[in-house]
Amino acid sequence: MDVAIAPSILSADFVNLEAELARIASADFAHVDVMDNHFVPNLTLGLPVVERIVQVSPVPIDTHLMIEDPDQWAPGFAEAGAASVTFHAEAARAPVRLARELRRLGARAGLALRPATPVEPFLDLLGEFDMVLVMTVEPGFGGQSFLEGTLPKIRRTRQAISEQGLDVWVQVDGGISAATVERAADAGANVFVAGSAVYGSEDAAARIAELRELARASHRH
Ligand code: DX5
Ligand code: ZN
Repeated sequence: MDVAIAPSILSADFVNLEAELARIASADFAHVDVMDNHFVPNLTLGLPVVERIVQVSPVPIDTHLMIEDPDQWAPGFAEAGAASVTFHAEAARAPVRLARELRRLGARAGLALRPATPVEPFLDLLGEFDMVLVMTVEPGFGGQSFLEGTLPKIRRTRQAISEQGLDVWVQVDGGISAATVERAADAGANVFVAGSAVYGSEDAAARIAELRELARASHRH
């Protein structure tokens, strides 16, 4: 279980996305937040823009779909070439069927949980997913503070994955910075989304390297 850093372009300059993607060429993924103004009270970008992002990005694309009816819309993002497609448990009607469809289309399938959504109903189904995204803020906006109360859920998710001998990644998203990444890593996260922490920095590459090193050091201890 190595560490991966996925800067969120939600905090990038949307008018200069190609240059903004070039700034994070040393990351493992570019995290793309798709919001529909229904599942969350914010609107970002949709499939046509993601199709172009996949074409110009120097790193694989990790899509986070904060949308209603992912059963209908998520497969299009896999077809567009996103390496990973994560949809919300609260919005999916048939999460296992959808995850199987995403994998069939060649993408990694991710299941996202809002802070108040328990992981327990999914523990016997973890093998159907490649990643569980434990939201560490309420989804919808960048720049919010990390919710400490999500740490026990990260820990329980990682423990269940280990007990079942699975290779499922645990992603955290929201409020991840040099001040919080170690606690999330210590609880068992291995994929770290960071929007404002990376894009708010003059030197995005240095910030990516710093987050990676802090997370790896936590895992070594
Ligand atoms: C929020 C998004 C996040 C957001 C994180 O709903 O899912 O990906 O960009 O932003 P920061 O890292 O600034 O909290
Ligand atoms: Zn996100």
